[in-house]
Amino acid sequence: MGTQLIILAAGQGTRMNSERPKVLHELGGLPLFAHAIASGADLAPEKIVLVVGNGADAVRDAARALDAEITVVEQSERLGTAHAVSMAREALSGATGDAVVLLGDTPFVRPETLARMAEARRAGNAVVLLGFEAADPARYGRMVLKDGILERIVEWKDASPEERAITLCNGGVTMADSQLLFELIDEIDNENAAGEYYLTDIVRLARARGLGVTVVTCDEDETLGVDSRPGLARAEGMFQARMRREALDCGVTLIAPETVFFSHDTVIGRDAVIEPNVVFGPGVTVETGATIRAFSHLEGAHVGAGAVVGPYARLRPGAELSNNAKVGNFCEVKNAQLGEGAKVNHLSYIGDATIGAASNIGAGTITCNYDGVSKHRTTIGERVFIGSDTMLVAPVSVGDDAMTATGSVITRDVPAGDMAIARARQENKASFALRLFQKLRDAKSARQKD
Ligand code: UD1
Repeated sequence: MGTQLIILAAGQGTRMNSERPKVLHELGGLPLFAHAIASGADLAPEKIVLVVGNGADAVRDAARALDAEITVVEQSERLGTAHAVSMAREALSGATGDAVVLLGDTPFVRPETLARMAEARRAGNAVVLLGFEAADPARYGRMVLKDGILERIVEWKDASPEERAITLCNGGVTMADSQLLFELIDEIDNENAAGEYYLTDIVRLARARGLGVTVVTCDEDETLGVDSRPGLARAEGMFQARMRREALDCGVTLIAPETVFFSHDTVIGRDAVIEPNVVFGPGVTVETGATIRAFSHLEGAHVGAGAVVGPYARLRPGAELSNNAKVGNFCEVKNAQLGEGAKVNHLSYIGDATIGAASNIGAGTITCNYDGVSKHRTTIGERVFIGSDTMLVAPVSVGDDAMTATGSVITRDVPAGDMAIARARQENKASFALRLFQKLRDAKSARQKD
């Protein structure tokens, strides 16, 4: 039997103080709600239903951009978590197996935790909730146990002082048979302090039917919900700490781990070395044995085995470095392929270009790829030597084993094996500098006498 995921993402997130819906704020470059979906991915869901409300169109667009089939349903009024889940009813009509309700602002629930909840379901519990021991229970729902069995959940607003003293809190994940979930939701009313339809009431209702209900506990960190900017910053810190540990465990050297920033999808091979102060934007793969030197920024890039990037390099989307290629200080590479062992070592911009294996691009070279309207490509063959400060005005190509002279502005294709010189010829004027200096000094002293 399959599993269905329901992600609640309709809330406003007023405390974020943002034009953007809360669930679109990102951790490691991925929106919060997508982290919740990723938590549930190991359950191999048949259907993923995302309940949107505030900023519905923007959230729908972000869902479309993900690599997953997601059914988006809209909750036009925020009447509570049970009401939000009921929006998924039609999308899941006829669905069998478990429904797993996750909160779109809670990004750290571990797949292993959901697997333990699924186990508790298989052990015969009709409803399984996720709980945690809260250091500061604050406004979380309190889990009321009787003889060790979960009786009900009471929301903070409705709780008595004794109930508020309970530290076992609701982490916000609910797992139940899909059809039972909707049946129980039908019985939920909004007679409570908030006037909301509380999903948490299904515990009491399931117990009233004599059904088995249990709580699976997890670490408090997993249930962290993001609802403010400080909360988002704290969550980002936790996310980065997790990514750094994973990289270290995978055999990556991080010289100063706390200064390296990852995206959710950064992939780094074994024995790669990442120097301090490196930022990985989305879509980066670094192969084994490569070195990313200090203060580099990479995004949408592939770095081959043994390649060296930086210090102070910027790789933008579409940068592809073959094995042992080098991109050095103050170089920017965008939408460009560098062949094996190719070098762009100093102060260059390489955009919309192909550079063949073993070619050397001299300091200060620029591929002039943009004419103000369109982008054009530069194609450089293998074993080419591009002299320092060459301007390659695209579209243009330089054949294998060719050279360009330093300071050239290359506007025409260079055939293989040729040397292109495209600059003014030098002229030396004998003693002219000495005469000019004297003239300038004389003029200056005349001015000072006036
Ligand atoms: C909820 C739980 C509480 C638990 C806490 C864990 C209920 C009634 N309470 O409280 O027991 O300790 O989560 O974080 O479930 N949402 C909608 N539509 C709505 C209402 C909420 O989509 O009509 C979404 C929100 O966007 C949010 C999530 O559901 O992401 C939680 O809703 P919220 O009202 O913030 O519940 P909590 O007070 O956090």
